[in-house]
Amino acid sequence: MIELAAVKKRFGRHVVLGGIDLEIPTGACLGIIGPAASGKSVLLKVMSGLLRPDTGTVKIDGADLTSRSEEGLAPVRARIGFLFQNYALFDFMTVGENVAFPLTRRGGVPADEITARVAARLRAVGLGGNEAKLPSELSGGMKKRVGIARATIALPEIVIYDEPTAGLDPVTTSKVYDLLRADQQSTGATVIAVSSDVDALCRFVDTVAFLYQGVIRYQGPAATLADAPDPVVRQFVRGELEGPLEG
Ligand SMILES: Nc1ncnc2c1ncn2[C@@H]1O[C@H](COP(=O)(O)OP(=O)(O)OP(=O)(O)O)[C@@H](O)[C@H]1O
Ligand SMILES: [Mg+2]
Repeated sequence: MIELAAVKKRFGRHVVLGGIDLEIPTGACLGIIGPAASGKSVLLKVMSGLLRPDTGTVKIDGADLTSRSEEGLAPVRARIGFLFQNYALFDFMTVGENVAFPLTRRGGVPADEITARVAARLRAVGLGGNEAKLPSELSGGMKKRVGIARATIALPEIVIYDEPTAGLDPVTTSKVYDLLRADQQSTGATVIAVSSDVDALCRFVDTVAFLYQGVIRYQGPAATLADAPDPVVRQFVRGELEGPLEG
């Protein structure tokens, strides 16, 4: 269970998270949506202990991340796989080394098993045989898929995807979501995904949270999102130009 209570985060005078309360049960699959720059990526980093909130608490299975030192956060982060919006691949490592990183960092996994798991993960994201390439040789969509392979190879209990399908064509998008779903079903991981592709995201997640002006304006089933009583939510989901949404 991931619990955020009264979480606030600002940069200078710019309040990004203005009081977030969110409970994500273990094994849940939650989508987070919201306008550009509404704080979705900041929220993901706060809930995974990568960014400290100014006030409020973030708990994972009852353990409060906000009171922990950097060292104390390391074991928490090791339980989380994170796909960054900007890939955050290591430029100086090959694709294979990048994907292997969560296993090599942890230690204790034999080299031949790492090689086999990397090969299998790369095949699963449609990039089999690309181990020796460098990130600079890849397209944006390929980097995204390498990032997905890296985020999931160690079978983390919590997987966080920031824009897993941005820049991917529709068929690859469907393949990526099929993979994420198959992973989640086989591992039972708690999954949190942010995407601007609301339709594709809603087909993947069970519940969805809409972040707007620093607070969560909607949280509920993905299926009823388009009929939410809040006109701001409806306008956003339907992509309408006229309405109360401030952009
Ligand atoms: N480290 C930082 N320092 C200062 N401002 C930041 C920092 N990180 C994020 N911000 C600001 O916080 C706001 C929210 O950023 P965030 O990246 O979370 O938006 P987002 O909802 O993920 O947007 P997008 O859909 O474009 O990815 C933005 O205005 C951004 O400029
Ligand atoms: Mg973002």
